Amino acid sequence: MKMTNRDSDAFVFFGATGDLAYKQIFPALQAMIRRGNFDMPVIGVARSAKGLDQLRARARESVERHGGLDPRAFAVLSTKLQYVNGDYSSQQTFRDLRRALSEASRPVFYLAIPPNMFATVVQGLAGADCDKGARVVVEKPFGRDLASAQELNRILHQSFTESAIFRIDHYLGKEPVQNLLYFRFANSFLEPIWNSNYVQSVQVTMAETLGVEGRGVFYEEVGAIRDVVQNHMLEVVALLTMEAPTGRDPDAFRDEKQRAFRAMRPLTPADVVRGQFRGYRNEKGVAADSQVETFAAVKLHIDTWRWAGVPFYIRAGKRMPVTATEVLVELKRPPHAVFDTIAQSQANYLRFRLSPNVSIALGARAKMPGEAMVGEHVELLVRPGSDDEMLPYERLLGDAIRGDSLLFVREDGVEAAWGVVDPILEDVTPVHEYEPNTWGPAETRQIMSGDDSWHNPQPIAEKTLATKE
Ligand code: BG6
Repeated sequence: MKMTNRDSDAFVFFGATGDLAYKQIFPALQAMIRRGNFDMPVIGVARSAKGLDQLRARARESVERHGGLDPRAFAVLSTKLQYVNGDYSSQQTFRDLRRALSEASRPVFYLAIPPNMFATVVQGLAGADCDKGARVVVEKPFGRDLASAQELNRILHQSFTESAIFRIDHYLGKEPVQNLLYFRFANSFLEPIWNSNYVQSVQVTMAETLGVEGRGVFYEEVGAIRDVVQNHMLEVVALLTMEAPTGRDPDAFRDEKQRAFRAMRPLTPADVVRGQFRGYRNEKGVAADSQVETFAAVKLHIDTWRWAGVPFYIRAGKRMPVTATEVLVELKRPPHAVFDTIAQSQANYLRFRLSPNVSIALGARAKMPGEAMVGEHVELLVRPGSDDEMLPYERLLGDAIRGDSLLFVREDGVEAAWGVVDPILEDVTPVHEYEPNTWGPAETRQIMSGDDSWHNPQPIAEKTLATKE
């Protein structure tokens, strides 16, 4: 891709020796260079590397472990890499950074650091005159609740305009998540049924087999609701429920998304079940009496003409039986049994597998061969995908460098999403223990209405039919 003079001309990332840089940023930079989409200095800022050689060694190890070393692209990355060592609370660090930026006049600063350091870094950048013409990329979770998100927005706006702020939610960088929106608005067959007349319920499940994997200290501060429900899950629901944007500019899209967020009724304790897997309290950095949830199930209501009365069930958890994120849009069963009786659990559905493998499936009934007019369940399945798909961080960092804000979360969006979960933060409901390798505590059934039941995503074997509990 050709660079233009709107593009950033230096890439600076704070937290250069951290987990995010190791798992996502170095591999994304190598991938952008491999594709010929990236040509600018790369400046890592941290305080724990001994020097540039050590940072280069970490970058090499990072790409080796995450996607593989591309010797040519990595050699380029290695020569572009610079290191600024220092404490974020020392103004000297930012003076050193200003010097390292040299002629660059449109840098992008990626704050791959804990949110409690954002204010210090933003003020440091402004103090050393680094913020002029710059963009800033910030990670999720964006704050801890509505009030802290508003405060973070206020701090960022002291130095950056909204168009220069890029709030990352890496789910928006995933191809299958973008496809939700494309599929909805590029097909005319969906629109007539995409409402409370035909949709019985919608479920979004984000299941991970892994636990907290050494991130106990981070996770104790966050929990599943802040870690993935407030952001990834609500973004997916917004894409499923929003109206078609009028216009192609990023704000036309984000305006509609914002209306979707605002239609989400704030959750109440009766709409949530929190769980914690047995063994979590033995993790390093976790309190022996921790009340932090590693699993959450919620029932969300969307107060619009289109969605009134349709429950949106969201479930996210660690140490589940499979790793998969899946959307199930369950349709109402036929109004009259012409042949065999069809239970609600046998009704039509659309299933979107968002991760790790991608698929779109339509669940239907078809006649079983034989004399009787009796049906069976079939799935019409497509599995789009390509071997050369961009990973979310490559896509999003490339967009931020070009100033394209479409796939980033706007100020009002992040605040509206916090508004939805704000009433259920802070241990307002008990945390139930569940066995690892299960679908969470039995109490999750309590938030289901009527005939609804949880749909458990299946492991990779796509031919297997979706199962209901
Ligand atoms: C991150 C969360 O945002 O998303 C992690 O902090 C979670 O806890 C991860 O494991 C999952 O992302 P993905 O892309 O693997 O589904």
